[in-house]
Amino acid sequence: MGPTAGRLNGKVALVTGGACGIGRHYSEALAREGAKLVVADIAQAEAAAQALCEAHGPGAALGLTTDVSDEAAVRGVVQQALTHHGRIDVLVNNAAVLASLPMTPATEWSTDTWDRVMAVNVRGPFLLVKHVAPHMIERKSGKIINVGSTSTARGGTGMLPYITSKGAITAFTRALSRELGAWNICVNTLSPGFILSDTLLKNEQHVSAVRERAVANRALQRDAFPPDLIGALVFLASSDSDFVTGQTLVVDGGSVNT
Ligand SMILES: NC(=O)c1ccc[n+]([C@@H]2O[C@H](COP(=O)([O-])OP(=O)(O)OC[C@H]3O[C@@H](n4cnc5c(N)ncnc54)[C@H](O)[C@@H]3O)[C@@H](O)[C@H]2O)c1
Repeated sequence: MGPTAGRLNGKVALVTGGACGIGRHYSEALAREGAKLVVADIAQAEAAAQALCEAHGPGAALGLTTDVSDEAAVRGVVQQALTHHGRIDVLVNNAAVLASLPMTPATEWSTDTWDRVMAVNVRGPFLLVKHVAPHMIERKSGKIINVGSTSTARGGTGMLPYITSKGAITAFTRALSRELGAWNICVNTLSPGFILSDTLLKNEQHVSAVRERAVANRALQRDAFPPDLIGALVFLASSDSDFVTGQTLVVDGGSVNT
């Protein structure tokens, strides 16, 4: 497939966790809309970028193996993104510890796991913003999409550190939108309900505990898959949402009402 006449032609998007699970669908969708991609993921980043280049032409994507909790690594990613593509218009803070987490009673989490979840899911988005936002500020333009979760509104059992970390993302978005609005930078949370990503489907414990109940709680009573999130993602990444900031956009088939 050659270049497309998309809503993100000429833009550059950096997607963390953009090689696997839902993030891979985000990367592919942004590329289809004409954006050049930087895929930063702890796993399979180069392979995902190569697939994007095969689909959208040489130079369509740069894949960088990255741990988003590591500041030196994040600084390097941003430098390489700017060297390679010259700009960053869209940052999608999607990387998180989720699918690999075993469901665990609240009092039985180890402090090491608690700290790791916070480091990846909260410090990670902060580090990306710390190193990307200065370039957006210089250009007085940008879109930051932080991936939250409807579990923060509804609560949930067996996932205390994860749900707590996603609660922080809601507050992070709201506070950051106030600071970056002066430079025309939009900051929003994209908040999915329970999504059957290929990575989550491998965690039988989550699927059997949550899938049926999630469907029963929806106005639209069916399973949800990564493509269900794409319309909202592209809206928040594109100029269609230029006067939308500080918001949480819930995509869950009408389970949580905002
Ligand atoms: N699947 C769901 O039901 C659901 C619901 C609400 C929100 N979300 C959110 O959507 C996003 C994607 O979820 P998913 O279902 O694809 O799960 P996932 O666990 O597969 O996604 C995490 C992605 O982040 C990457 N990653 C993990 N640790 C990293 C690190 N330290 N540095 C860089 N990359 C790292 C993984 O390789 C993967 O690509 C996450 O933010 C998750 O919290 C998912």
